[in-house]
Amino acid sequence: MMTIRSILLLLLLTGVRAAAISPANGYVSKIEVFRNPVYPLDVVDKLEEATMPKVDEWMAKKITAGKNNKCTLETAAVRREWFALHCHFRGIIRSDMKYRSDMSETMRQEYVAAINCLLKKPPKADKSRFPGAMSRYEDFVAFHMTHAMQLHDNMHLFGAHKYYVWLFEKALREECGYTGYQPYMNYDRYAQDPWNSPLLNGNASSIGGNGVLDPAYKGVPQPGRTPNIIASGGGGGCVKAGPFSDMVVNLGPTAMSTGAKIPRNPRSDGTGANPRCLRRDVNRNAAMGATADRAYRLLTKHNDMDSFYNELLGTPPPKNDPYPWGIHTAGHYIAAVDPGGDAMTSPGDPLFYFHHTSLDRLWWIWQMQDPEKRLYSIPFVNMNMTMPMKRAVDPHNITVDMEWLGPPIKLLETHDQLGGNGGLFCYVYV
Ligand SMILES: *[C@@H]1O[C@H](CO)[C@@H](O)[C@H](O)[C@H]1NC(C)=O
Ligand SMILES: *[C@@H]1O[C@H](CO)[C@@H](O)[C@H](O)[C@H]1NC(C)=O
Ligand SMILES: *[C@@H]1O[C@H](CO)[C@@H](O)[C@H](O)[C@H]1NC(C)=O
Repeated sequence: MMTIRSILLLLLLTGVRAAAISPANGYVSKIEVFRNPVYPLDVVDKLEEATMPKVDEWMAKKITAGKNNKCTLETAAVRREWFALHCHFRGIIRSDMKYRSDMSETMRQEYVAAINCLLKKPPKADKSRFPGAMSRYEDFVAFHMTHAMQLHDNMHLFGAHKYYVWLFEKALREECGYTGYQPYMNYDRYAQDPWNSPLLNGNASSIGGNGVLDPAYKGVPQPGRTPNIIASGGGGGCVKAGPFSDMVVNLGPTAMSTGAKIPRNPRSDGTGANPRCLRRDVNRNAAMGATADRAYRLLTKHNDMDSFYNELLGTPPPKNDPYPWGIHTAGHYIAAVDPGGDAMTSPGDPLFYFHHTSLDRLWWIWQMQDPEKRLYSIPFVNMNMTMPMKRAVDPHNITVDMEWLGPPIKLLETHDQLGGNGGLFCYVYV
């Protein structure tokens, strides 16, 4: 008898377009899923698949209530894993990227080209405030570096980043002709060997390789954890291979930089022009803190937002764990150093967007286990410190203001990717 996977593989090779069938209950997804046979589904992928019937049921209710803002699962954009774009399907060419599947390498290169395009477009940020923001790409870095405290507080970490990444994706599509959506990285696929991963191996369809060895770079200190450093993975210097090896980084470093001997910025807050190379330390020690078993535990162990949030941040630090970082930290330092390893300028390394899209995916899977209860939940605690139980501001009244990046929206609008923001948010993950 054929297994579900072999059926899907067959469909994939013969080019027949079919809806994915969830093995558990025969549920037929409205999202067409073509899987990359190189990587079997991990526990998180399977949980995500098993969640689709709940998403469908919840959407049906919203549609009945007229609250879906025209978003449906049939029309939703699909954000995919980087390497999932690699699948070859013979014979099908569709104008809609969602089904266009013979692009493989080309699709990933299209993404890289779109980033290069943003790197060449003039910035919109105020020149006197950000003389170092030299491109549309760095517009986003400039925003992040001056709003990092707000973006990372307990109310904004999820929602404001969702909006931020969505605006970046919109810029790639509308200003640079990208026809896909922002990819995420399934950390687990690359955790054992990130250097040779399709994302960071430095070939033409990666997002560039490791930095050259810089013995002065020791790693990222993790005070309060054991071990108390994400030890260097053997890079730290300039990226010399693949896309972005010629990238010019201008903003930063700031006081939060974890790089070694990075040239100083002419402005003390890092907003001046400081042209230099992209430096990376592609780091297995970090990546191993974001494996699928950890993500699965994160998604299934926590019924309340506070404990979900704290485990994501690795607070309190796990004991007897060689990689006790929490997935948020682990993901950030998979390619740390400069500007990626500086909490202020981290979006200066394109890997940032893969990481925050992955966190967005995990948040969504967690929300969708019980959408009625979880969609709008916001953590009360922050970094292991209990906040006053009465919030100073009602979350309903909070507006996320992205200044020159996009129009302000209500925080709670950012919580719903299937109809939020007046229906402009309408996407799923596969
Ligand atoms: C880059 O590496 C990936 C993973 O090994 C491989 O599948 C792909 O074909 C390579 N692409 C190029 C352009 O060399
Ligand atoms: C962090 O939380 C743990 C468990 O709730 C607690 O034991 C520890 O004292 C807390 N640390 C701080 C600094 O509040
Ligand atoms: C939230 O906004 C509403 C309407 O603008 C207002 O009545 C209420 O007092 C505000 N709540 C807080 C806590 O600011």
